[in-house]
Amino acid sequence: MQLAFSPQHGDHDGDDPLFLQIAQDLREQGWSVIPNALPVTLAEGLHSQILGMGEEQFSPAGVGRSTDFTLNPFVRRDEILWIEGRTQAEKDWLQWSNRLRLTLNRRLFLGLFSFESHFAHYPPGAFYRKHVDAFRGNPGKDPTNRVLSVVAYFNPGWLPEDGGELDMYREDELEPFLRVTPAFGTLVVFLSEELPHEVRAANRHRYSIAGWYRVNNSLGSQIDPPR
Ligand code: OGA
Ligand code: MN
Repeated sequence: MQLAFSPQHGDHDGDDPLFLQIAQDLREQGWSVIPNALPVTLAEGLHSQILGMGEEQFSPAGVGRSTDFTLNPFVRRDEILWIEGRTQAEKDWLQWSNRLRLTLNRRLFLGLFSFESHFAHYPPGAFYRKHVDAFRGNPGKDPTNRVLSVVAYFNPGWLPEDGGELDMYREDELEPFLRVTPAFGTLVVFLSEELPHEVRAANRHRYSIAGWYRVNNSLGSQIDPPR
């Protein structure tokens, strides 16, 4: 996907420099990895919520969407909790994600319409095999319309032996071109259709948020909701 780029306009010079950096990375290479990206209060708010959540709040993650949803422990073993804005930290996260959405729409003309995201917990041994978050396809046929994927990590003091890296692949290559450590505050953003990726088995509890921006896939007057 070739992205257009809009130069800075006088009326929007309030854009967060971080969001502008992400826009530039996406335009130049289709992905962006930024350490310590999350504002400290946002990262700490989400982290303390995660620490306070019990295992029972998470559900095993499935493969596929609504009607063809299945559990497949050979593909993924993470546990998830959708973010709905129940807490102040969740509200702050949704607001921050929305500001990123607006900047990316202004700079890259992506037409991002909605955002869905969930907490993910990978217990020791859990992984998520190589996959893409969306399939290229005709509008209306593509079950997700996910355009952009976002992942944020909440793991202080993550060590190399803890594993759990995110490996990013180019479509036609067997070796990853990038390996991301799931360190506290790191943010990854990438084009959902273009970059296969994989979560390597973690050796300790691994916490993240994964989210997706979607374009609208309305049928007639019906708006297609996320998830
Ligand atoms: C996903 C995903 C990556 C990660 O949930 O689709 O690829 O590093 N997550 O948690
Ligand atoms: Mn993914």
